[in-house]
Amino acid sequence: MKALTWHGQHDIRCESVPDPTIEDGRDAIIKVTACAICGSDLHIYQGSIPEMESGDVIGHEAMGEVVEVGRDNKALKVGDRVVVPFTISCGECFFCQRGFYSGCERSNPDSAKVSKLWGNSPAGLFGYSHLLGGYRGGQAEYLRVPFADIGPIKVPDGLTDEQALFLSDIFPTGYMAAEFCNIQPGDTIAIWGCGPVGQMAIRSAFLLGAERVLAIDTVPERLALARAAGAFTLDYLEEDVYDRIMDLTRGRGADACIDAVGTEADPQASWDSRWDRIKVATFMGTDRPHVLRQAIHCCRNFGTVSIVGVYGGFLDKIPMGSAINRGLTFRMAQTPVQRYLPELMRRIENGDIDPSFVITHRASLEEGPALYETFREKKDGCIKVVLKP
Ligand SMILES: NC(=O)c1ccc[n+]([C@@H]2O[C@H](COP(=O)([O-])OP(=O)(O)OC[C@H]3O[C@@H](n4cnc5c(N)ncnc54)[C@H](O)[C@@H]3O)[C@@H](O)[C@H]2O)c1
Ligand SMILES: [Zn+2]
Ligand SMILES: [Zn+2]
Repeated sequence: MKALTWHGQHDIRCESVPDPTIEDGRDAIIKVTACAICGSDLHIYQGSIPEMESGDVIGHEAMGEVVEVGRDNKALKVGDRVVVPFTISCGECFFCQRGFYSGCERSNPDSAKVSKLWGNSPAGLFGYSHLLGGYRGGQAEYLRVPFADIGPIKVPDGLTDEQALFLSDIFPTGYMAAEFCNIQPGDTIAIWGCGPVGQMAIRSAFLLGAERVLAIDTVPERLALARAAGAFTLDYLEEDVYDRIMDLTRGRGADACIDAVGTEADPQASWDSRWDRIKVATFMGTDRPHVLRQAIHCCRNFGTVSIVGVYGGFLDKIPMGSAINRGLTFRMAQTPVQRYLPELMRRIENGDIDPSFVITHRASLEEGPALYETFREKKDGCIKVVLKP
């Protein structure tokens, strides 16, 4: 089959790899009908994810048609149309039983390795290095889905691939980011990053009752899409984000702040962003947490900082003094996608939201490598790429 494979920094190729096969009775194989490129794939593209190996099949946002099921899998049958969560979860362990699917303690065969870095291991993820299971990803013609009797959700006939695909990751992630904020009537929610995840967070914050959303980015078409959802937008290169948020909130700060940027924050945003860039480039630091610092400062006393932008290691100069003295709550996670699927599928079916609004580019798998560059550079108005193998 054809698949997108990683060969080093900025080197993604579309090439032939062996077809996946059933390896466990609970597995299923799907023929991928649509898959997407995510901001999390950009960390791999940039070479910032350790333990990638040349030839690894990447991608973790995929859906398709079931073409084969393992003998113990009673939940799926050949011909079912399913969306696959990016988190691989057994459904039975201590964490899965509590709904913390992205903390599954059985799905990451590399858990000893990653525990050295993080103290313990989260769930395995599709297409996300040999720290997180080395599973082959979904930017491919076929995908082997482990624990497929727990993860994938069936798509009703009335929904198109494009409407359902983002249940695999960015819709649940944006929704979780907003849910973490425990939104009350009258609340102002500030959201850094108007990429695909930020866009889902903006709409989710309104769905959950936010009165006002302040959306921060600098890319004109991304800010325009945020305004189309009803957000008030701030351009971090044009104005001082902290001053503006204080002006808009009577000097208190936002009730909750969402970081939907993570470690690839724009080095041009401020002096500390530039400094982060130098530290990472010279191996003096692991991450570029400018947005997290700013989100903490812009959050009102006893407010919530919700983090869905991904960080990898040990973050420097986080203003914990501000956070403890002002009573902030921190919430963060790789999304336990399975937990959100039934509710969010219902919201799509009800017409509360059509997540396909975010798609700007549709292409074949062969065009994938070029579109990684287009997405990273935000060229050609690119916000979200969907590939149809
Ligand atoms: N927690 C999860 O489960 C989960 C799931 C999916 C994605 N993510 C993460 O969410 C983040 C966003 O993903 P995406 O697909 O939207 O990526 P993206 O790269 O398209 O979006 C990031 C946006 O942040 C903006 N930005 C950069 N610096 C900024 C700054 N200083 N202030 C405000 N905005 C700034 C960029 O212009 C861009 O529009 C990534 O870190 C990704 O890894 C997390
Ligand atoms: Zn993703
Ligand atoms: Zn589990």
